[in-house]
Amino acid sequence: MTNRTCLAVILAAGEGTRMKSSMTKVLHPVGGLPMVAHAVRAAVAAGGSDVALVVGRDADKVEASARPFANDVSVHIQTERLGTGHAVLAARSAIVKGYDDLLIMFGDTPLVDSDALALARQKLADGAEVVVMGFRPIDPTGYGRLLENDGELVAIREHKDASESERAINFCNGGLMAIAGLGALSMLDAISNKNAKGEYYLTDVVEIARARGKKVVAMEVDAASVLGVNTRVELAEVEALFQSKMRREMMLSGVSMIAPETVWFSWDTEVGAETTIEPNVVFGPGVKVGANVTIYAFCHLEGANVAEGVQLGPYARLRPGADMGPKSKAGNFVEIKQAKIGEGAKVNHLTYIGDAIVGAGANIGAGTITCNYDGYNKHLTEIGAGAFIGSNSALVAPVKIGDNALIAAGSVITQNVPEDAIGFARARQSNKPGFAALVHAKNKAIKDAKKKR
Ligand code: UD1
Ligand code: MG
Repeated sequence: MTNRTCLAVILAAGEGTRMKSSMTKVLHPVGGLPMVAHAVRAAVAAGGSDVALVVGRDADKVEASARPFANDVSVHIQTERLGTGHAVLAARSAIVKGYDDLLIMFGDTPLVDSDALALARQKLADGAEVVVMGFRPIDPTGYGRLLENDGELVAIREHKDASESERAINFCNGGLMAIAGLGALSMLDAISNKNAKGEYYLTDVVEIARARGKKVVAMEVDAASVLGVNTRVELAEVEALFQSKMRREMMLSGVSMIAPETVWFSWDTEVGAETTIEPNVVFGPGVKVGANVTIYAFCHLEGANVAEGVQLGPYARLRPGADMGPKSKAGNFVEIKQAKIGEGAKVNHLTYIGDAIVGAGANIGAGTITCNYDGYNKHLTEIGAGAFIGSNSALVAPVKIGDNALIAAGSVITQNVPEDAIGFARARQSNKPGFAALVHAKNKAIKDAKKKR
């Protein structure tokens, strides 16, 4: 990697009308992360530590979604949309700082490949003034055509401005560019709007650089990596490509999936080797899973930590703050939220554990509920190591069950239970011998009397 400085200018001022959304387009997520943040991550991975976002609306939200991923994020409002060249110039105050490299990217192109960006920067380091990322679409209609001569790029002709023979070219502008930063402003300022659309075309920098005797090259990239999103249909297509890539990476790193096409990851999902994921499992953002875990079918995880050797599901739901200790279990129809489950503890069936600490080796019976919320505040339930909670118990927080304590099934526990004690909080059973037969006889007589009427 070069030690040249780099600014990524990410264009995100588009109206996104075709998304039919009250939210600005680049905030729509792919793999649980706003599209614009994907672009920022790729830029940073290619060595562009500083990012200039050109935004039309929702500037605060766009900035907030980029902020975690870059050293320096500046936001530039483009009030009028006068074309891609005009949009880049909205970031003039950042560009003027004088970077060696500029990467021009689009906020609605989330599958952008950081290796390709890094290669484009390398071409600048090797003497090119402008590097354009080209691709070969199945249908080139609407794209700018790349006009080449002797391995150098001569011009980019926008579809509307192209002649019949130029339209026959299928090597197209993917939209992403690298420009040598020090001369960039003077080239951008030379762009005019004398063209079919009356817009300031960024693509004109190609001819401007050539006229100044500079070297301009095109590099071919994978068509998927320059796929832009304009509608929710395209958003789903990009999501599908993103998911295929994640699944492939997971499997190559040692994760088994029986039906990978039914497993959905987030951009930040981490899964350890030798873990098996059964069909129909969804990972929301913020999930870390260790090695040798089995996730049975139909589980949903979000913001959860799962240590090695855990078994989940089928049909388990881990919500944010769920922290499953090594070799612990959460079985069918179990929901865990903001709770630490100790090593080897079992929560096997039909249970809600929220705002709780469960000790190592504890056994939580079917139908146990931590009553954590009083309608205003959340309260903590502490269950000691080796404790046994009988089925269908309600633990009304705040409450503490000591180590190795035992809770009788069907209890409603409102007071602390000391260690080694039995907590028993239900009506005592009483049997009345022969009474059932009397009740049967009485009820039958009433029914028979009705029939005779
Ligand atoms: C652009 C390229 C075209 C290329 C295509 C690839 C130009 C002149 N044309 O065309 O050669 O084949 O992308 O998809 O660059 N934007 C702003 N402000 C503006 C205009 C655009 O922020 O004033 C942003 C948009 O939000 C979008 C990106 O820039 O993310 C590209 O703009 P768009 O209008 O889609 O350009 P195209 O006509 O598709
Ligand atoms: Mg476009």
